[in-house]
Amino acid sequence: MNGYADKRAINFGPGPAKLPLDVLERAQRELCCFEQTGLSVLEMSHRSTHYAEMNKVAESVFRRLLSIPNNYKVMFLQGGGTGQFSAVPLNLLRGEKPVADYIITGNWSNKAATEAKKYLSVNYVFPKPDKFTTIPDRSEWKLTPGASYVYYCANETAHGIEFPFIPDTGDIPLVCDMSSNILTKEIDISKFGVIIAGAQKNIGSAGVTVVIAREDLIGKAHPLCPIILDYKVNADASSVYNTPPVYSVYIMKLVFEWIEQLGGPQAMEMNSKAKSGLIYSVVEEYNDVYFPTVEKPYRSRMNATFRIGSREGDAEVEQNFFSGAGKLNMISLKGHRSVGGVRVSMYNAITVEEVQCLAKFMKEFAVQHRQQKN
Ligand SMILES: Cc1ncc(COP(=O)(O)O)c(C=O)c1O
Repeated sequence: MNGYADKRAINFGPGPAKLPLDVLERAQRELCCFEQTGLSVLEMSHRSTHYAEMNKVAESVFRRLLSIPNNYKVMFLQGGGTGQFSAVPLNLLRGEKPVADYIITGNWSNKAATEAKKYLSVNYVFPKPDKFTTIPDRSEWKLTPGASYVYYCANETAHGIEFPFIPDTGDIPLVCDMSSNILTKEIDISKFGVIIAGAQKNIGSAGVTVVIAREDLIGKAHPLCPIILDYKVNADASSVYNTPPVYSVYIMKLVFEWIEQLGGPQAMEMNSKAKSGLIYSVVEEYNDVYFPTVEKPYRSRMNATFRIGSREGDAEVEQNFFSGAGKLNMISLKGHRSVGGVRVSMYNAITVEEVQCLAKFMKEFAVQHRQQKN
């Protein structure tokens, strides 16, 4: 018995999120001496052959997991998803009067569009709604011919909206923020121009951001693009143009290996469907107690969002829910501050058993709530 396994909370936090215990324990074992190097990864030069080898392994496992074609570069960068909100326009804007199309389905795509407006003209593919609850039908979308790129967020972490399809943008490069659902299902990388993803939800710890970019799209950054955000500079330097977040890359490598061992994105997808299915079925069964905030086809497998007590949420009942869950060691269930209510984040490291535990509590809570109301 390791002495802490039974003390660890069931952490449904939206990120930085739970890491697999196997990964944490391996990191613990290797903390003071990584393989035969005589060094901790924390002490290792990013110019050393040891680090170069580790970085190479991380990239090759990642490429294998997502079957990334050879004409795509993979970069491990700093600056988070937010840094990429600027990097995308600065690397991809084209022409005298550049325009980019933004598909806004929640606060993260909205933030990306706001940042992009500093550098180019932003066209909203459909009007920004007051409340994010759905993805408008494709017939309502207006794409700009000749746009530099089309941008969307595959999973809106705060609003709980996930795309069940990849938008077809023809020859216009498609850019996707996959920060909260990368490596949770198989995807056809060839449909994308650029994919960006912070690691701290499904694939590692905070500090490293993954960028996958099609080769023909890089090397044409705006002259004022900070060198640290320039895809060509970073890709040519194998992600060590400057000092990378060495430990975050190491943890991410361990998570990639863990995912591969469990059966890759296919296995993660099966798990994510089972886990989110458990929560949404309780929400539907007790539909006088739990009120989902997103229309069914677009409900996220990663972040299930709902209100309790009424459609707008009853603050007291929701607080009782958080307290009750807390007593059972289930934490970080509060919705994003801009949304309120409940958000259950179920990334790759969360187990089916942990979600079963929450689903059981949700049922008991609903029965109790009904009794109190009657
Ligand atoms: C979908 C999505 N994109 C971007 C971000 C911003 O990431 P960061 O905080 O690493 O800048 C987040 C953060 O939670 C996110 O969920």
